[in-house]
Amino acid sequence: MAKSFHAQWSSRMTFILAATGSAVGLGNIWRFSYLVGDSGGAAFVLVYLLCIALVGLPILVSEWMIGRRGQKNPINSLAELARKNGSSQAWILVGVSGVLAAFLILSFYSVIGGWSLSYTLSSLTGDFSGQDAATIEGLFGALLESPGMLMLWHTIFMALVLGIVAFGVNQGLEKAVRLLMPALVVLLVVLVIYGMFSGHFGEALAFMFAPDMSAFTGDVVLAAMGQAFFTLSLGMGIMISYGSYLGQEVKLLGAARTVIILDTVIALLAGLAIFPIVFANGLDPSEGPGLIFVTLPIAFGGMTAGWLLGLIFFLLLTFAALTSAISLLEPVVEFLEERSPLSRVPATVVASFAIWGLGVAALLSFNLWDFTVLFGLNIFDLLDTVTAKILLPLTGLGAVLFAGWVLSRDSVAKELGLSGGAATAWNVAARFIAPIGVILVFVFNLVG
Ligand code: TRP
Repeated sequence: MAKSFHAQWSSRMTFILAATGSAVGLGNIWRFSYLVGDSGGAAFVLVYLLCIALVGLPILVSEWMIGRRGQKNPINSLAELARKNGSSQAWILVGVSGVLAAFLILSFYSVIGGWSLSYTLSSLTGDFSGQDAATIEGLFGALLESPGMLMLWHTIFMALVLGIVAFGVNQGLEKAVRLLMPALVVLLVVLVIYGMFSGHFGEALAFMFAPDMSAFTGDVVLAAMGQAFFTLSLGMGIMISYGSYLGQEVKLLGAARTVIILDTVIALLAGLAIFPIVFANGLDPSEGPGLIFVTLPIAFGGMTAGWLLGLIFFLLLTFAALTSAISLLEPVVEFLEERSPLSRVPATVVASFAIWGLGVAALLSFNLWDFTVLFGLNIFDLLDTVTAKILLPLTGLGAVLFAGWVLSRDSVAKELGLSGGAATAWNVAARFIAPIGVILVFVFNLVG
């Protein structure tokens, strides 16, 4: 991202690439598949898709709209629009909670980014070639048990993010998204085809798409909603920030559709690639955060030249993780830059160091600090839960309420190019469906 707040995207395409670069990341492949496995499959997938369409889309558009109208960073955009519209300054809490969420998410995100880096190297050195499922599970177990290795990879990942943000080379990365994102899709398709022939594809399809009514528990519904926020990078202000560089000519609904379709297709492909391997090898779908790291290497290990495909896959995954991680660090840096005497590079170093430290606590949850701290969760799970299930939905709720109730109806309809029934539909979605959806999920979780 450019440093000045009034810069603009050079084209609609650059904007979409940046938003997609933020949205598509570990969330689509690592987090989506592990949650589907952990939350009983199809019930999760169904609620997730509903949340993307009914909650995610209105919130994504609301965040962009707030940014484009405010033309500033998320906190200042909200402050200014609230003042202009005669509303309370308390709305800036939405921006503050977003910065906090970014800080917390990046700490554990970087740990998983480190796993992806580590698996890139293991593919290159042929560690998976010809190995059976048990050996490959063992390799992952060994990584988890080694605080030193986890710390090394987490440090390398965080250093890469720091370097990219500090030196502002993000622009170049956004261009690379154009090439590497389709490459990731192609590779996932190859894995899905592999699953069709050598996995238990039918079983995987049923697991992902044939819900069993008893599986719709409060927990599953909350997890699915949290994932919808996480995967679209909502509730953190980053989309507000991206909107602030947006010219008036860009159509928000069309852009949102493009980003959402890409993001969702990648997640579903990842699921279709992973579950046939899970069932074919008798692995446990509820294995947890390690799911892709024990399943995909089994597929790569069994293919001719699988090491090369594995290498490319983990490289692309690491790249997708980096472009998302940058979008997580950026708001924290902007916040520090604005509210402390630090200039950009020192602000980036300070933010990264603090995030890195919290990440170390997160990675120790897999070994030395394997104890529960709160609500039966260890530090890693707690960070993930507090952000995805609480902070992101609440912040996103704030953004859509702001767009629905504080911004004037007419100006919004005009901005979105809607009239008549379509304008009413937007209004109902932003004022009622999305907010009530979020609130209902919270209530359902408390009682279910
Ligand atoms: N959406 C990214 C992913 O799926 C992660 C991410 C980047 C994110 N920025 C975010 C999540 C902001 C929540 C909020 O991997």
